Parts: sequence; C-alpha cells; structure tokens
Amino acid sequence: MLKAVILIGGPLKGTRFRPLSLDIPKPLFPVAGLPMIQHHIEACIKVPGLNEVLIIGAYPKNDLAQFIQEMSSTYGIVIRYLQEFTPLGTAGGMYHFRDQIRSGSPTYFFVMNGDVCADFPLQEMVEFHSSKQALLTIMATEATRQQSLNYGCMVLGKEGTVAHYVEKPSTFVSTLINCGIYLASLEIFQTMADVFHANQQQDHIMQLCCNGRDPAHIAFEQDILTRLAGSGRLFALPMFRWWSQVKTAGSAIYANRHYLALYKQKQLDRLASTNKNYCHIIGDVYIHPSASVHPTSVLGPNVSIGPNTMIEPGVRIREAIVLGKAHIQAHSLILHSIIGTGTSVGEWSRVEGTPCDPNPNKPFAKMENLPLFNVNGKLNPSITILGTSVSLAAEKILLNSIVLPHKELTRNYKNEIIL
Ligand code: GDD
Ligand code: GTP
Repeated sequence: MLKAVILIGGPLKGTRFRPLSLDIPKPLFPVAGLPMIQHHIEACIKVPGLNEVLIIGAYPKNDLAQFIQEMSSTYGIVIRYLQEFTPLGTAGGMYHFRDQIRSGSPTYFFVMNGDVCADFPLQEMVEFHSSKQALLTIMATEATRQQSLNYGCMVLGKEGTVAHYVEKPSTFVSTLINCGIYLASLEIFQTMADVFHANQQQDHIMQLCCNGRDPAHIAFEQDILTRLAGSGRLFALPMFRWWSQVKTAGSAIYANRHYLALYKQKQLDRLASTNKNYCHIIGDVYIHPSASVHPTSVLGPNVSIGPNTMIEPGVRIREAIVLGKAHIQAHSLILHSIIGTGTSVGEWSRVEGTPCDPNPNKPFAKMENLPLFNVNGKLNPSITILGTSVSLAAEKILLNSIVLPHKELTRNYKNEIIL
C-alpha cells in the first residue's frame, strides 16, 4: 500500500500569488479547469496501490472542507485534510501527523509540494526507489546555472545517490535541482525524530522562538535532506518531462498551457472543440460545461473558462484563465490575463498582459518568479490580473496591470496596481 502527502502551506504563504489568493487558498486556484492540487491527486490515483492522500497545511479546515468532500467522492479513495495549528515547516507537519501517515503501514509514501505542477513521474519513482532500497528519493531536474540558486541543489554520487545537498545556495553548486516531489520509506520518521529531539534542546528553543517559529518546526530541506546527503540512502531521480513551480500568477498561465497540452495527450475529451462547443476554438482550450460561450467568439490557444461564465458575441480570448461567473461582454479582447470570479469586462474593451515565459533560448530555463517591482520601483511587466468582482467599463484598455477585488474601472490603465 502507498500513500501521498501534499504540503500546501497556509494563508501566510503564497503572497506572490495575490490578489488571486485573497478569496481562494492558492492550492485551490483552478489551472486548466481543476484546482491546482487536484492535478496532484489525479497523478496519485494512477499509481497502483495508492489509496490515501493526506493534505497537510495551516489553512482553516473550512477553507478546504468542500474540496476534500468533492475529491473523496470523485476519486473514491481516502482524502483527508490535516491542519497544522501553526506552520510547522515542510517536515514539522509530517512529523506531527506521523501516526496518521504510518497507520496501515504503507510501504512508501509520496511527499508533494502543492505549489509545483508537472507531468508527475510517480510510477517511475516507485520502481526506482524500491530497486535502490532508498530511504528517500527526490525527483530532480536541470536548471540553468543562474536559476539553480532559487532551488535546492544536489550533487550526485555513485548510482544516483545524493552526495551533497544545499538548499537555495548563495553561490553555484549544481544545475541539478530538487523538484519538491519525494518518495519516502517509513524509516524517514527516525531521522525526523532525531532532528525534533535535537531542536527541543534549550538553546535551540531560544533560537527558534526568537525567529518567531514554533519549536516543533522542521524544514525538510535544511534539516532532513542536508543531513541525509552522503549517507548512501538519499537518491535523486532526474527527469526531463515538463515541471514548474507555481509561485506567481504569471506561472499559473504557463502551468495552464502545459496541463492543457497534457489533456491533449492523455484526456482529449477534456478539451473543447469547435464541433462540441459551437464556437471557434484554436489550439488547447478548456470550457466548463456550465459556461455559456457565444458561437461567434474565438477562444484559444491555451485558455480555460470557469463555471457559469458568460462569453458574449465577438469576444477574443487567448493565453488566459477566466474564473467562474465572469461576464465577458461583446467584442472585448483578453490576452495573457487572469479574470477573477464574478468579474465583468465591458464591450469592446481590451485587457492585455505581457507573457512571462521561461527563456526559450536557454535550455532548461524555468519561469522567472520576478518580484512585483524592479529596482527602479517600476512594476515589472507581467500578465494582467483582474481580482474578484471587478467591473471594467466598455471601450477601455487595461494593460500590464493588477486590479484588486471589487474595483470599478472607468478609464484606461497601463502598468498600474489598482488598489
Ligand atoms: N504544511 C505545510 N507547513 N506546508 C508548508 C509549510 C508549512 O509550514 N511551509 C511550506 N509548505 C509547503 C508550501 O505550500 C509548498 O507547497 C512547499 O511546502 C514548499 O514550500 P516553500 O517553503 O515555499 O519552498 P520553495 O518552494 O521555495 O522550495 C522548495 O521547492 C522547490 C521546488 O519547487 C524546496 O523544496 C526546494 O528545494 C525545491 O527546489
Ligand atoms: P499576432 O497574432 O500576435 O501576430 O497579432 P494579431 O494581429 O493577430 O492581433 P492581436 O494579437 O492583437 O490579437 C489577436 C486576435 O484578436 C486577432 O485575431 C485580432 O483580430 C483579434 N483582436 C484584436 N483586437 C481586438 C479587439 O479589440 N476586439 C476583438 N474582438 N478582437 C480583437
């Protein structure tokens, strides 16, 4: 039997994802029509023998209750949410809930960062892990020299062992990076226990409390992976399929495009087609069955349309996510943007952002998760985001801007944050 743990952090994480995470926890933000972590769950249920998924985070239970219920009934496996009373770090929560993870004696369990998206190679990890009799296997990929500094970096030893691990090094270590997806054997809890007991010593408690952290805080990367490197039982499985972090709203557009491309390969029936949806579809598009899309509108490529959305005649949408209950009025245009729940875009208006894809000329380049402002205090060009229940008047242009929820926009805006 196998299990999976998905780490989703709490309301204080995911700040770079605002304003999209103001109304909905970031792990539930829909990408290609499904909440971000539903893609993790879908990957898990394809692994033979995996019958329990535990989601660990610090969000209030109510924020996830409906999602958990829907997932359990959709997939027919045990899916539970375990709430940390305070953020305990990437391993502290797992250690706190160790009895729940160990119950039923799973052979191995997956640990998945909720903020990554990928064509997850979970079955390959199981085969690799068991052939190596590993304690822990890390899914790894290549990054550029410069970008590797934003990730956990590994140097491989013999036969796929990790000889050296540094989390977000300040100088170059290796281009082989940690993807935040692991497969662990139950003995990993012994390593966590050692770290936990060492942290309980008085000076450590002083140190940790001064940081504002709970004494039970354990970081999987710094406390566990660094300690296990060189032991011969920590392994890395490099893989070169699509993988990305989802830290900023711009990376959600990028993830949307790739998950839609995976539907094309594996679940074609999820994609819209001109025949099925009676409007003009270009490339990969997801349309929720309850959305109403006018036959004269043109959607795609790489567009997701949420539930109960209304798309009027002559609308053009490309490279965008439109959330539920939005109203896109006649002849408006939406490019490289995210349109929030219940937002209305007026007739003949133009909402446009700047694409922020990885550099196509650099092999293994990842998404740059740029801060909102550059060193000169100017807004970095990015996708345009309209928060929840925004109303954009007719015949207006909105370019490279971020609009907080409930705003009424009656003029044109360019490169602005509208608070
Ligand atoms: N339950 C819980 N509790 N989850 C947490 C906590 C916590 O206290 N802190 C973080 N998480 C979750 C986050 O929601 C996210 O899904 C994951 O753990 C990793 O979070 P970060 O702490 O933001 O790390 P990171 O994304 O910058 O880096 C990690 O992922 C990279 C790959 O995406 C590291 O593992 C890197 O080594 C790795 O390269
Ligand atoms: P590229 O495809 O980027 O080379 O440019 P394009 O000339 O096709 O135009 P653009 O990317 O600006 O727009 C993409 C599509 O939207 C085109 O098919 C345009 O005809 C259409 N479009 C452009 N502006 C508007 C608009 O204001 N309203 C509507 N309804 N459609 C528009």
